[in-house]
Amino acid sequence: GAPQAGNAPHVVITAGPTREALDPVRYLSNHSSGKMGYALAAAAVAQGATVTLISGPVALPTPNGVTRIDVESAEQMHQEAMRWAPEAALFIGCAAVADYRSASPAEHKLKKQEDSDTFTLTLIKNPDIIADVAALPTEQRPLVVGFAAETQQLEHYAHDKLKRKGLDMIVANDVSQAGLGFGSNENAALLLWRTAQGTEQRLESPQPKTQLAQVIVRQALSLI
Ligand code: C5P
Repeated sequence: GAPQAGNAPHVVITAGPTREALDPVRYLSNHSSGKMGYALAAAAVAQGATVTLISGPVALPTPNGVTRIDVESAEQMHQEAMRWAPEAALFIGCAAVADYRSASPAEHKLKKQEDSDTFTLTLIKNPDIIADVAALPTEQRPLVVGFAAETQQLEHYAHDKLKRKGLDMIVANDVSQAGLGFGSNENAALLLWRTAQGTEQRLESPQPKTQLAQVIVRQALSLI
């Protein structure tokens, strides 16, 4: 990241789902509520940061003091992330980015086929936004924090994702636990970050997303 104006670090956060158009009226998406990303944005403002929130479509108010950039697709989110990340000290990828999009979104509404009971869509891979931010040249690269929603072997997959995407820190949450994760107000998480020696980690017990967000932002800012 670039040197910061004054003492306020610039924090860029992605949040919410992405929407991948199939035709003018239909899309592929997921159940991400955006709550965790919005809580991170509010926590970063409270801890003195200048915050840019790149948001997919969600039903949440913009937290006070946050600059919000609305996007729909992963490609749009990627474009905004690559525009803002080189200016940032910290990038947090909290969005539930669709892994794939339609290979050829239809220009006109797709018609139901009367002659077949099946319909085949061809999907192509979306860019990995956080991996591309993490791969920025050193002088443009912010500290990069990712999320991992897992249903098993939390620690193993967290280590794997940290390494594979080139992240500095990862927040892994167990989405198989009822009442936690997607759409809920509470989250439990394993925080894992790189140190000069290797990695360190800390388990955060179930707590409101607003509180967990403060812990994550504090830990991330301390690593800059
Ligand atoms: O690979 P997976 O989707 O589990 O990784 C989750 C992490 O990667 C999150 O931080 C998410 O925001 C980020 N991600 C991304 N672009 C993608 C897919 C995931 O930034 N295309």
